[in-house]
Amino acid sequence: PETGCLSIVVLGASGDLAKKKTFPALYHLFLQGFLHPGEVHIFGYARTKISDDELRNRIRGYLITDKSASTEHLDNVTKFLKLVKYVSGSYDSEEGFQLLDKEIAKHELSKNSLEGSSRRLFYLALPPSVYPSVCKMIRHNCMNKSDLGGWTRIVVEKPFGKDLESAEQLSSQIGQLFDEPQIYRIDHYLGKELVQNLLVLRFANRFFLPLWNRDNIDNVQIVFREDFGTEGRGGYFDEYGIIRDIIQNHLLQVLCLVAMEKPVSLKPEHIRDEKVKVLQSVLPIKDEEVVLGQYEGYRDDPTVPDHSNTPTFATVVLRIHNERWEGVPFILKAGKALNSRKAEIRVQFKDVPGDIFKCKRQGRNEFVIRLQPSEAMYMKLTVKQPGLEMLTVQSELDLSYRQRYQGVTIPEAYERLILDTIRGDQQHFVRRDELKAAWEIFTPLLHRIDDGEKKPLPYKPGSRGPEAADELLAKAGYVQTHGY
Ligand code: BG6
Repeated sequence: PETGCLSIVVLGASGDLAKKKTFPALYHLFLQGFLHPGEVHIFGYARTKISDDELRNRIRGYLITDKSASTEHLDNVTKFLKLVKYVSGSYDSEEGFQLLDKEIAKHELSKNSLEGSSRRLFYLALPPSVYPSVCKMIRHNCMNKSDLGGWTRIVVEKPFGKDLESAEQLSSQIGQLFDEPQIYRIDHYLGKELVQNLLVLRFANRFFLPLWNRDNIDNVQIVFREDFGTEGRGGYFDEYGIIRDIIQNHLLQVLCLVAMEKPVSLKPEHIRDEKVKVLQSVLPIKDEEVVLGQYEGYRDDPTVPDHSNTPTFATVVLRIHNERWEGVPFILKAGKALNSRKAEIRVQFKDVPGDIFKCKRQGRNEFVIRLQPSEAMYMKLTVKQPGLEMLTVQSELDLSYRQRYQGVTIPEAYERLILDTIRGDQQHFVRRDELKAAWEIFTPLLHRIDDGEKKPLPYKPGSRGPEAADELLAKAGYVQTHGY
């Protein structure tokens, strides 16, 4: 592993993302010994004029939410906060970033005895509208200058633009300032345990290799449901909608890992090459294979316009035009304010040919990967019902992580991904051409929605979403099994 000074700068230190995800992830990395006090400093940067201690107290509030926290936890938080400093400045002024650079350099000097390179990680927990100016400021003022080597990297998060054109514009603005190996585009779904498991599952098991194709699989569903609405972030959400918020990034990334061919190796470029090929093979979306919804009450939010056309629910069928997947619908479904919170992949197999048991009535073979909550994988299959009669019944081969891996803590997506950025591993990050291909798929549909040509259907909060979505699912070939 590299040694030397590591400076992690969280830009937008007082914002929501920093509070909910970035600082807690850094704290957990610290707890696990990945951020050594002898090497690391964390800088918060934002416009608000506050002191180091004020920032530390805020972070303390994010990390200690439980009044009965143990003294060990309190001590650890105090130790962690000793690594944190604050610099205030605007996102487009040289002064602020010059000051930031000075502070980083001071810290690097103080750790000089370690002998090693200087590593600078800039985490932009900011709205994308300021990415170009912030990147410019970093590039002009804050790059690593150590003779001993090291690097400067930036971490950015979606929304990367609103459509193909704006995303490409943003990409080229950032691309003029940083090279692709310096840019880490986070999609936090790629940091989830069971999403990372997809590669292993598919390519390290003989079971799946011969079955994973159009000859055996009837349809694939990738589903995201939340049982709460957009309260508190209606302003942001209304500008983007469920397709840009969840489907075009999180669910599409999952689709890539389910559908891609085996990469040449685990090298990030090899994996991403295969993902791009899948995205480029997706056919234009058909209007009749889209159902949009908006939950009743969504527009009551004062930050949402009265006549908003923004979908809070969508089911979209994607079709991959290649040898493996021709004819297999990939149904992507996401919704807010539904009846449950769940994210899962359901791979449904075709009926058994020449069935002598009439097991079709009980449901098909289905392989389900539950990303959250309670990570699990299970295979629905038909077995003989125990007893004297020759009857069949649907049962499961069930790998529930909570039972199988008792006592193992599954790391948070952000924790893992931030560690990757420090280690310089881009395997779980989105490459520029991948992003472009993802926008190419959805831009025509998004434009039709933005122009009001395609309207969402109303649905009741706490429901399954519009009924038309279930009809589309059935039309695409999905056969509902028991208990679903
Ligand atoms: C974010 C979306 O990217 O993902 C949110 O902006 C959504 O709208 C969140 O709630 C879901 O993440 P997770 O990890 O809770 O499934």
